[in-house]
Amino acid sequence: MTWDEPVELPEPADTEAFGEELGRELRAGDLVVLSGPLGAGKTALVRGLARGLKVAGPITSPTFVIAREHRPLPGGPGVPLVHVDAYRLGAVASVAAELDDLDLDTDLTEAVVAVEWGEGVAERLAEEHVLVHLERREDDVRVARAERVGP
Ligand SMILES: Nc1ncnc2c1ncn2[C@@H]1O[C@H](COP(=O)(O)OP(=O)(O)OP(=O)(O)O)[C@@H](O)[C@H]1O
Ligand SMILES: [Mg+2]
Repeated sequence: MTWDEPVELPEPADTEAFGEELGRELRAGDLVVLSGPLGAGKTALVRGLARGLKVAGPITSPTFVIAREHRPLPGGPGVPLVHVDAYRLGAVASVAAELDDLDLDTDLTEAVVAVEWGEGVAERLAEEHVLVHLERREDDVRVARAERVGP
């Protein structure tokens, strides 16, 4: 897993593989924020995260639902994944507080939460998180950069 450096991802499978590597490093309570423009590959990366974490699929683009819960599969670390599409959330100080209002079945301190966000919004988030920024180059190659942000 490469931190703090740009990684070139030519194909969707590369983006998923990047997500899978990250997924293997995540622990219960971790928040992953995926930032980048439409079609940058945020959902593709979450698909890889789910594989790395060994949770049930399928990972899709939530159109109406804001959060989907993916249960752990046997043989994995037993940590559920909550996949949030935050385009509708706008700018918030705390993802946890926003999700509390949704009254999910999953205890977020026992889960990994992955939030897809529009460009720029996530960068102002105060709480501790892993930020994955994805951009789409003119030649269509995606470039990802993962960093740990916060206190
Ligand atoms: N290297 C790549 N990585 C990821 N996706 C790629 C790549 N190359 C092409 N694609 C295509 O780009 C699209 C990315 O879609 P995806 O839904 O993952 O993006 P997104 O950032 O979640 O978009 P949205 O903002 O709508 O949520 C897919 O159609 C995928 O096939
Ligand atoms: Mg998406």
